[in-house]
Amino acid sequence: MDDGSQRDYLTHPRGGFGILWKMKNKLILAIDGPAAAGKSTVAKLVAKKLNITYIDTGAMYRAFTLFVMQKGIDPQRQQACEALIPQVKILLAPTGEVFLNGQDVSKDIRDPKVSAQVSYIASYKTIRLALVDLQRHMAGNQSVVMDGRDIGTYVLPEANIKIFQIASVETRAVRRYEENLSKGIACTLESVEEDLRHRDYIDSHRDFAPLKPAVDSILIDTSFMTVNEVVERILDIVQKKVGSIHA
Ligand code: CDP
Repeated sequence: MDDGSQRDYLTHPRGGFGILWKMKNKLILAIDGPAAAGKSTVAKLVAKKLNITYIDTGAMYRAFTLFVMQKGIDPQRQQACEALIPQVKILLAPTGEVFLNGQDVSKDIRDPKVSAQVSYIASYKTIRLALVDLQRHMAGNQSVVMDGRDIGTYVLPEANIKIFQIASVETRAVRRYEENLSKGIACTLESVEEDLRHRDYIDSHRDFAPLKPAVDSILIDTSFMTVNEVVERILDIVQKKVGSIHA
């Protein structure tokens, strides 16, 4: 039985709010939910506060999609896309950059043209299996925050904490639209909302590992919450579940 005696919590050497999360039992925090629900923003901040690794699985599906498009292959041609698996090497740098076969594609994978196609690629089982393998390997033996669509249900079902983060599609569209504008990505609010609806539909209707809350997940509706409020809520859940995070 887990009575908490196996863990220890150390103040981060730099002091302040950074906490070195040191557990003999690793912490796995899964954050799933529909497109643009703010998962990656929140996951990144939570991982930083806990001083553990953040893994953005959506970036991997996006990088694969970019490769398919660079090869001039129609993302809806399943077999042709699957045949590319051996040619794709994806690396998520600890500093957040995404590398595709050695090239930094961090910005390119956020292009609305990639967003429009990524859910087709993510619906192909063999591509998912290859990327899930990589995701599990990256999680390895360490504590992680991993975000995506199927982390709590399929990739890391043993996660200690599973969050399902939602917001109304209108709220999500405004957030992504503003995020795109701040990054210099051209789009309209209507096109963003259409893309989110389109991806949510494909993501939740695919046969293999669809987008859905794990039965043991905690639902957080962020429609009327700030980023900080969501982060605090999750840190609170972590604290209640595994003990004090404030040294
Ligand atoms: O950031 P945003 O919510 O727009 O999407 P993302 O997390 O970057 O994911 C992009 C796409 O990858 C999703 O729409 C899904 O089609 C796919 N995906 C998935 O199928 N499974 C995951 N674990 C993560 C992403």
